[in-house]
Amino acid sequence: MAKMEVKTSLLDDMIGVGDMVLLEPLNEDSFINNLKKRFDHDEVYTYIGSVVISINPYRSLPIYTPEKVEEYRNRNFYELSPHIFALSDEAYRSLRDQDKDQCILITGESGAGKTEASKLVMSYVAAVCGKGAEVNQVKEQLLQSNPVLEAFGNAKTVRNDNSSRFGKYMDIEFDFKGDPLGGVISNYLLEKSRVVKQPRGERNFHIFYQILSGASEEFLCKLKLERDFSRYNYLGLDSARVNGVDDASNFRTVRNAMQIVGFMDHETQSVFEVVAAVLKLGNIEFKPESRANGLDESKIKDKNELKEICQLTGIDQSVLERAFSFRTVEAKQEKVSTTLNVAQAYYARDALAKNLYSRLFSWLVTRINESIKAQTKVRKKVMGVLDIYGFEIFENADNSFEQFIINYCNEKLQQIFIELTLKEEQEEYIREGIEWTHIEYFNNAIICDLIENNQTGILAMLDEECLRPGTVTDETFLEKLNQVCATHQHFESRMSKCSRFLNDTSLPHSCFRIQHYAGKVMYQVEGFVDKNNDLLYRDLSQAMWKANHSLIKALFPEGNPAKINLKRPPTAGSQFKASVATLMKNLLTKNPNYIRCIKPNDKKAAHIFNEALVCHQIRYLGLLENVRVRRAGYAFRQPYEPCLERYKMLCKQTWPHWRGPARAGVEVLFNELGIPEEEFSFGRSKIFIRNPRTLFKLEDLRKQRLEDLATLIAKIYRGWKCRTRFLLMKKCQVVIASWFRRYSQQKKYQKIKSSAITVQSYIRGWKSRKLLRELKHLKRCNEAATVIAAYWHGTQVRREYRKFFRANAGRKIYEFTLQRLMQKYFLEMKNKMPSLSPIDKNWPARPYLFLDSTHKELKRIFHLWRCKKYRDQFTDQQKLIYEEKLEASELFKDKKALYPASVGQPFQGAYLEISENPKYKKLKDAVDEKIIIAEVVNKINRANGKAASRIFLLTKNNVLLADQKSGTIKSEVPLGDVTKVSMSSQNDGFFAVHLKEGSEAASKGDFLLSSDHLIEMATKLYRTTLSQTKQKLNIEISDEFLVQFKQDKVCVKFIQGSQKNGNIPTCKRKNNRLLEVAVP
Ligand SMILES: Nc1ncnc2c1ncn2[C@@H]1O[C@H](COP(=O)(O)OP(=O)(O)O)[C@@H](O)[C@H]1O
Ligand SMILES: [Mg+2]
Repeated sequence: MAKMEVKTSLLDDMIGVGDMVLLEPLNEDSFINNLKKRFDHDEVYTYIGSVVISINPYRSLPIYTPEKVEEYRNRNFYELSPHIFALSDEAYRSLRDQDKDQCILITGESGAGKTEASKLVMSYVAAVCGKGAEVNQVKEQLLQSNPVLEAFGNAKTVRNDNSSRFGKYMDIEFDFKGDPLGGVISNYLLEKSRVVKQPRGERNFHIFYQILSGASEEFLCKLKLERDFSRYNYLGLDSARVNGVDDASNFRTVRNAMQIVGFMDHETQSVFEVVAAVLKLGNIEFKPESRANGLDESKIKDKNELKEICQLTGIDQSVLERAFSFRTVEAKQEKVSTTLNVAQAYYARDALAKNLYSRLFSWLVTRINESIKAQTKVRKKVMGVLDIYGFEIFENADNSFEQFIINYCNEKLQQIFIELTLKEEQEEYIREGIEWTHIEYFNNAIICDLIENNQTGILAMLDEECLRPGTVTDETFLEKLNQVCATHQHFESRMSKCSRFLNDTSLPHSCFRIQHYAGKVMYQVEGFVDKNNDLLYRDLSQAMWKANHSLIKALFPEGNPAKINLKRPPTAGSQFKASVATLMKNLLTKNPNYIRCIKPNDKKAAHIFNEALVCHQIRYLGLLENVRVRRAGYAFRQPYEPCLERYKMLCKQTWPHWRGPARAGVEVLFNELGIPEEEFSFGRSKIFIRNPRTLFKLEDLRKQRLEDLATLIAKIYRGWKCRTRFLLMKKCQVVIASWFRRYSQQKKYQKIKSSAITVQSYIRGWKSRKLLRELKHLKRCNEAATVIAAYWHGTQVRREYRKFFRANAGRKIYEFTLQRLMQKYFLEMKNKMPSLSPIDKNWPARPYLFLDSTHKELKRIFHLWRCKKYRDQFTDQQKLIYEEKLEASELFKDKKALYPASVGQPFQGAYLEISENPKYKKLKDAVDEKIIIAEVVNKINRANGKAASRIFLLTKNNVLLADQKSGTIKSEVPLGDVTKVSMSSQNDGFFAVHLKEGSEAASKGDFLLSSDHLIEMATKLYRTTLSQTKQKLNIEISDEFLVQFKQDKVCVKFIQGSQKNGNIPTCKRKNNRLLEVAVP
């Protein structure tokens, strides 16, 4: 079975007609209605044959996606609904496959979408042409040249927020495989007057705003710029910000693009320096100054800005200043310098700014070309894309030299359009061998001639006027025009003699009007001469050439005094004419593809279709004529194959397959359908249809036939579907029935089986129970016999052995057990004995409760025993020491805070070696008894509480105090005279020795002493007194006690003192009754 191929066509799902050639009836109304209908349905593209009409949608439509690119890729032009991609694809494929250079001509008014269209074409071609790292880099560079040129050459105008203010023609070069190699860009006439002045509601070139919004503070500072737009006279303020345009982010895009295109960092820097210099030039202001000789002279108001410009551009400030105030005219070895008045100075300033900027722009184009230039010498195929400023008409005679030039260029393009479409049409007829019929159309060659004729053309006369010696003004130029062109059909002026327009008040005297193919345009003659001259005073160009800035120097080569050229440079008009001529020549060698852009409204708004506006554009673009030319003779043509493919179902012989040449098939088909012979004609490869009506009739028939075919297919399909369904159901039924039967039989069998098992089990159970009963009876009989026998034997045995058992066996067993346990306890204790240290607290756990008291007693006895053991080890001397310690404990434990510290100290007694030290020989001799204590103590002076060192000696009978240095005895008290010792309860060494009243020693009063070994002293004093006098010495522990000082009694009081003297207690006499000791 042959594969069913679904071919779509332009004619499918059409809204209105996709190709105006098929419009029936053809007139202006139906043309516009068709456009409107399609526009309302978001169909912005419509064909006239191979020309694409594009209506600016003013909003983004989802028709430029990569999927769309794939859809249009390698498809025939008429296969899908009209699209700019179809045209791009057609152009690219004929370039690649048929080796024909192409050009894509995009025309339309400003804001109609030309630039967007050119970008779409480029991006489509980039998407479908070859891939690979190298190719991608070329593509990227070509695409990225756009943002750079747009930043410098586009501006917001009232018509378009991103209006190109220059014309651009770009040749993209490909190799034989269709891979891009590089490109060449040509630019045409930048609208440089915008640099110094912008119409209301418009902006200067984007780049100025982008720098100020997007550059970093640091960069701005380097360029000596400030962020505030209002600082710059050249930036119109009323529309500095454009809705939906982010200047800052665009600036980043531009810098990035410059990098991709291949600008070096220093080049980018220089470019921005020039831009900054232009911006700052606008801020230079002049004031008048009259001189004695009556000449007007101007002076720069504020030199700051000038200074900064000079720093930026490396120009000598005095040179530039002079160039702004003088003008030197050189003529044949003569040099004349004249001063400039204020107006002339401003003129010079603006001329410089414009020239700097426009030359920078041209330099940018050259620089980009250097980067994107193809690297090989092989033969290239070329696709040119022309995006040139559209026809421009301002109201109120605001049209000036720029509009004149722009409109001239459009006039030329229209001319080439007419020529090429007709030529192409004619060639196709010849190629196909069809007879050519002439048709009427408006040829605008006559208007082109009016402008560009070498003798009588307007441009030629303007040049003549500029070069003429004597006073030349715009008025003299107009007069000249009036003389020469008065009779021209398309020229209108009120001044011309016996003019047809003498009474036309809508035409001011200073204006002339040209009837362009696109409508009448009134030009204000003022400024024509100036702008054509495009004069920059030589002093300025020389000043620029002297700049220490390589870019600026390069921009003004004519400033080089070595190359001085007294000849006038070519005028702007003649330059433009020449470049347009080159362009036209270039375009004529290529196969043209047209995109004609139409602006649906003046508001830049989506969804609005202003019929009057569109009608105007259709008229001047000559679109209706275009359709007529295309339909002259034959409205529709199509190669035989697709035609046969589309209509073969209309005839039995060709349906479903035609075997034979396609042309013969179409012939058979048309004969069969009875189409009148004058309605069609057979070309070599195409069928030509005269009237769209015929085509529509074919389409209707096809639609009808398709419906019939569809019904037939549906019928067959339904029958097939029912039959298959029935067969399937039948098959299913058999399967289900067999399954069901099997299932029910299974069920029945299982029921019988289970019944049999039940009956069986009942019978078996009954039999088993009967057997069990018999066995149980037998077993019981056996058991009974055994029990009886056992009892009988038991009685017999007991009778025999009774005599051997005693009545008190239980008690014996009890005692034995107890003994056994005790034995075990002691044996275990032996192994678990704790150490012999009296301070060891360990004691094994008690094993049995009944041993509780024994266990405790055992522990006590053991402890006493080991203490005794411990004591027995002591020598006599140790015993004495421990006795003393015991005594001290009884006296002071828990009574005096000093006591715990003394427990660890051994009591040494003789701290001073009296007998050994020769210093104390006298003292030793004086004391013949055994010395118990010899120690240094502090004696507290009773008058002021100060301490003095004394030797304290205790012998068997006396207490002695001696001088520490000399050893002289100061006092000697028999122990019997000591009545009491007092001390505090605190942590101090103070103590008082009270003496018996009336005794000899008591005459000086009691002693108040302090010692580090208080506890030892007190204890020894106590023991010695006891052994000597058999009386217990009274030891009083109290924080407040009285001491006898001569006659008085003084109270010694211990208080808790501060820590400030460390740990040493301090003693102070408070008054004559109180001595205060502060204990820390
Ligand atoms: N195909 C399109 N889809 C969406 N918007 C468009 C399209 N063509 C043009 N525009 C819008 O119209 C504006 C003007 O288009 P532009 O190409 O700059 O006009 P021209 O170059 O003809 O003066 C663009 O900035 C864009 O907003
Ligand atoms: Mg544009």
